[in-house]
Amino acid sequence: MLSNDVYVIIMAAGEGTRMKSQLPKVLHRVCGRPMIDYVLEGASVVSDNLPILVIGHGSDEVVAHIGDRALYVKQEERLGTGHAVKMAAPYIEGKEGYVVILAGDTPLVRGETLKSMVEYTKDGNYSAVALSAKVDDATGYGRIIRTANGDFDRIVEHRDATQAERRINEINASMYCFRIDSLLSSLGSLSSDNAQGEYYLTDVLSILKNRGESIGIYCLDDYTEILGVNTRKQLSDADSIMRNRINEYHMENGVTIIDPQTTYISPTVNIGQDTIIYPGNVLEGNTSIGKSCILYSNNRIYDSTIGDEVTVESSVILESTVGDGTNIGPFAYVRPGSAIGDNVKIGDFVEIKNSQIGAGTKISHLSYVGDATIGQNVNVGGGVIFVNYDGYVKHRTNVGDNAFIGCNVNLIAPVTVDDNTFIAAGSTITEYVPEDALAIARSKQINKEGWVSKRREKKAQEKD
Ligand code: UD1
Ligand code: CA
Repeated sequence: MLSNDVYVIIMAAGEGTRMKSQLPKVLHRVCGRPMIDYVLEGASVVSDNLPILVIGHGSDEVVAHIGDRALYVKQEERLGTGHAVKMAAPYIEGKEGYVVILAGDTPLVRGETLKSMVEYTKDGNYSAVALSAKVDDATGYGRIIRTANGDFDRIVEHRDATQAERRINEINASMYCFRIDSLLSSLGSLSSDNAQGEYYLTDVLSILKNRGESIGIYCLDDYTEILGVNTRKQLSDADSIMRNRINEYHMENGVTIIDPQTTYISPTVNIGQDTIIYPGNVLEGNTSIGKSCILYSNNRIYDSTIGDEVTVESSVILESTVGDGTNIGPFAYVRPGSAIGDNVKIGDFVEIKNSQIGAGTKISHLSYVGDATIGQNVNVGGGVIFVNYDGYVKHRTNVGDNAFIGCNVNLIAPVTVDDNTFIAAGSTITEYVPEDALAIARSKQINKEGWVSKRREKKAQEKD
């Protein structure tokens, strides 16, 4: 399908009052991804042209998020959906072809559906097509009124509808495909003579119809695609519908998801075959999970790449990479900028930040590793701290291959510990440790024989 004769206008200037939020509505997230990103993705399926986004006063945050993925039109006064589209009209004036109109608050529509709607419009030679579906509860939506023989008659908003019209359960999705010339020639005829005193885009369809142009309705079987998000309740409904879709997609691809209701995977995440996901996992951002991994309960993994056959339990991994065969957790915290090699063990209560960890290295218990480069097959004992901050700046620590770092060692950065070294437990290391050396940096032990009983006698005399 030629898609450079299709333009897209996205209406997103509404204040989203019913969300009761400081955040613009279209930046609220569905499955970890801002709502508007789904709509932009849908737009990209039907059109090669940059979408035209109608934004409201003070939507700098929206522009900051979307950047150069759209062209912008500011609608200073929010006078209705018809007015919003009118604001965008200059961008399509003089163009031939079709314009798809979407709303920023309907993230569930599939790109393929929009594509079919455009084809339906072209094949049927319609001047305009409205997307619709039948729902159980149509409250609040515009109703599709059909003629006796089932053709399009008009759309009536809930607030303008009669009791009889309110019983109609086919709703207007607020997504349309128009012939550009038809749309442009009718926008000027809109009036705001209705319950909300707004210019309704829906009236354009009746205007065209009354002129004798043909209007189609593209009615979907799956009503979930057209649900709008106006409230937090609808946001949570949208999240749950999207969550199911994403989880089903992964299960079809050979991923075991034990409880899809409590598994939260963003649409931007890839997962390899035979990976098993326990309840309570949150996988977000640009994350990729390899094959045959086991994600036990309660992990949050964000913007990270995890290799094959990795196990993770009750841990947080952010903006990092993890090699094949590595075990993480329970209760580990891998912070941004970390690269953990193959067959590594990161155990309980271990925090890793901005560090490289070589293959086969074990950091099994209670350690903080910050700004370090650690070689292969290193053993980092319990309670080891990489002391990276001097109160002003962060410094790095280098540890070579096969080093053995005893329990409760402090490595005060900047410092280097070479290959094949041994650091005695409890040492505070401030200086270079050469290859093959044992470093001990702690005071010598003194045993005072008989000290305890002497002290006991002394205390007893003091009491008398
Ligand atoms: C709209 C439709 C309704 C449909 C419903 C589906 C109209 C008149 N009504 O109603 O038939 O069933 O969507 O969800 O079109 N917007 C602007 N500028 C404005 C007004 C709105 O950009 O001046 C944007 C909003 O940000 C939103 C979209 O247009 O993204 C729809 O507006 P909204 O006020 O939510 O319309 P609804 O009452 O939901
Ligand atoms: Ca709406």
